[in-house]
Amino acid sequence: MEELERELGINRPIKLASNENPLGSSPMAIKAINLALELDGLHRYPDGSGFNLSKKLADMLEVPQDNIVLGNGSDDIITILTRAFLKNNDEAVISESSFLMYEISVRSCGAKPVFVPLKSFAQDLDAIAKAITPKTRIVFLTNPHNPTGSIIKAEDFTDFLDRIPSDVITVMDEAYIEFATATDSINSIDLVKAGKPIVVLRTFSKAYGLAGLRIGYGVMPGMITSILERIRPPFNTGILAQAGAIAALEDKPFLQKTLKLVKKEISFLYSELDILKLDYIPTQANFFLIKTGNAKQIFDALLKEGVIVRSMASYGFEDYIRINVGLHEENVRFIKTLEKVMKNG
Ligand SMILES: Cc1ncc(COP(=O)(O)O)c(C=O)c1O
Repeated sequence: MEELERELGINRPIKLASNENPLGSSPMAIKAINLALELDGLHRYPDGSGFNLSKKLADMLEVPQDNIVLGNGSDDIITILTRAFLKNNDEAVISESSFLMYEISVRSCGAKPVFVPLKSFAQDLDAIAKAITPKTRIVFLTNPHNPTGSIIKAEDFTDFLDRIPSDVITVMDEAYIEFATATDSINSIDLVKAGKPIVVLRTFSKAYGLAGLRIGYGVMPGMITSILERIRPPFNTGILAQAGAIAALEDKPFLQKTLKLVKKEISFLYSELDILKLDYIPTQANFFLIKTGNAKQIFDALLKEGVIVRSMASYGFEDYIRINVGLHEENVRFIKTLEKVMKNG
């Protein structure tokens, strides 16, 4: 945003491009961070095990504490996982047009990403199961999926797990799970409890509004945790991140306020897009795809007006942009600007 102000001289740009929380951060987290700064300072190393945070998560999710691994964002857990389980020539199966970190991490270990096309904007579990070979070590799934906002149904996922070899680890990335309202989505934590070889990834970056703090976690059977813990850098989560995350988990009012805003504003955006006769992909997350035609051109035109969105051209969706839900006034400005740039062709 600063770059846009500096380079294009745009006043008050709005950013709807990174699926962040438009309400800011959990106030209880901010208070706890300030307190930790005052009381603990930053001259000592953090508790490398993040005991208090992992205990809180374990109690909340009703899993043993040794089922939790903390990370410097959930990105960090993806990196640790791939380093732990992938070597040269191993394969990891990834849906096309998915979160880019999966491919980056897989390639950086010398392993091969095997891409499976989406089917009607959703992950195709049948085709993913068929893409598994004796070289496959990891399958990446995202629920809800970024960037399409689609979910994986519970029965499809249990069928999938029954079909695949038991030595393949399934990563279930749930960065946006708090926003999902569908009742037929999977309860992946129950599957971890049942000892299935799955790693559930969660983050404080989205619903809790703490993207800049860098804290996330993985939930998985103890056998997988013990392997990750062997290579996890000892201080990968800081004092402030641990304190902020513990408080954020307590901050039910902020979470409720966030979910309420997203629900209300998604309906608002859908109805405005209906009026403009623009197609969109209904979502279970805090972002969604809009079919504008020529995404790159629309992205540039919106940018010049100070509205930052994401062109989906590099994800293979040439005609789509992705926006996340903003504050009401931001969403109004987005719709007005979109109408203007589309009229200008
Ligand atoms: C699907 C998905 N997974 C993981 C992440 C990374 O989140 P974190 O900020 O916890 O590293 C993102 C961030 O955009 C995401 O979209």
